[in-house]
Amino acid sequence: MLLPSHSYEYGCRGLKLDSLGLKLHLVTGAAGQIGSELTPYLDSHSDFEFVLGTDLKESFPALDRYEQLDVTDRTNVNSVLERHEIDIIFHLAALLSATGEHRPQSAYNVNLNGLYTVLEAARQTDVERVVVPSSIAFFGQHTPPIPSERAIYSPTTMYGVSKAFFELLGEYYNNRYDMDVRGLRLPGVISHKTKPEGGTTDYAVEVFYEAIESGSYTYFVREDTRLPFVYMPDVIDALIAIAQADSDSLNHPCSYNIEGCSFTARELTAAIRDHIPHFDADYDPDSRQKIADTWPETVDDSAAHHDWSWNPKYGLEELCSDMIMELERQQIA
Ligand SMILES: NC(=O)c1ccc[n+]([C@@H]2O[C@H](COP(=O)([O-])OP(=O)(O)OC[C@H]3O[C@@H](n4cnc5c(N)ncnc54)[C@H](O)[C@@H]3O)[C@@H](O)[C@H]2O)c1
Repeated sequence: MLLPSHSYEYGCRGLKLDSLGLKLHLVTGAAGQIGSELTPYLDSHSDFEFVLGTDLKESFPALDRYEQLDVTDRTNVNSVLERHEIDIIFHLAALLSATGEHRPQSAYNVNLNGLYTVLEAARQTDVERVVVPSSIAFFGQHTPPIPSERAIYSPTTMYGVSKAFFELLGEYYNNRYDMDVRGLRLPGVISHKTKPEGGTTDYAVEVFYEAIESGSYTYFVREDTRLPFVYMPDVIDALIAIAQADSDSLNHPCSYNIEGCSFTARELTAAIRDHIPHFDADYDPDSRQKIADTWPETVDDSAAHHDWSWNPKYGLEELCSDMIMELERQQIA
């Protein structure tokens, strides 16, 4: 697979935010792994657009325009949307799978009540479009091996249940209120700018940091655990592509599968050793293995290719080279 550059370069497919015809963007969960990269990207690529990052955290110096916002706080969510007359929301605030199993009540509150609060406020303030990531956690042990959008789902975690709730509720708002709610099922996301926390696929990021810092890593999953992944530049492209897509072309508005590549922990170790030959890996599965075992090893993302030209640029080899180069650069700096 050929890459346009060695480091993150989003929007390589010529995506133009201006063509959305939308002026005001709000990102919830803007301080997280994805939000901390999506928000500055939106900001820097939309000269005449206003992008407001929000998160539970009191401050987030990385963003120029930032407000503290708890998505479960109906009064404040309404107030932010009314004050800024938002056109498009990227709703990223959530508790992830492993955290959700430690704190299921909190996950219910943030992921379900928070989602409902944001969708209701969006409806009442005439927001044009809401984009929400779903997850492969939507699936479950009864899902077929290479699921398509309409495959049986049977999530076993509160996180997965909340993603099923989003996909159903999003469709409900689209049909009942003629709103425009969109989403895609992200696999594990790999990136080097903000470390992930509380997810089942975090090992696929932690391993890079440890390989460079200490030369060894103990995975919290078995070496034969195979899951789908995607690299951050492709995530950013996907979120913008689905936000820009013509609504008539979206046959699964809230439920698109995407993946960049699928690999086992052992294959990831081998790919890292191509760059760091002395890297030493061990495997000591913990409670997250049980979650990983219910997720699909790969997904059928042909509908995303067909409906909105999903075309990931990073496979295992490419993301490994880029991760290691970027983390080594950060270490030197
Ligand atoms: N990172 C992945 O591997 C992955 C995979 C599949 C789906 N997703 C989805 O993508 C979205 C973003 O994920 P991420 O990886 O950036 O997660 P993250 O955990 O890194 O970030 C989530 C952010 O939400 C914020 N938050 C938590 N509770 C909040 C509240 N009550 N009000 C406002 N903000 C709150 C947190 O402070 C955090 O900054 C989520 O919907 C997640 O389910 C992520």
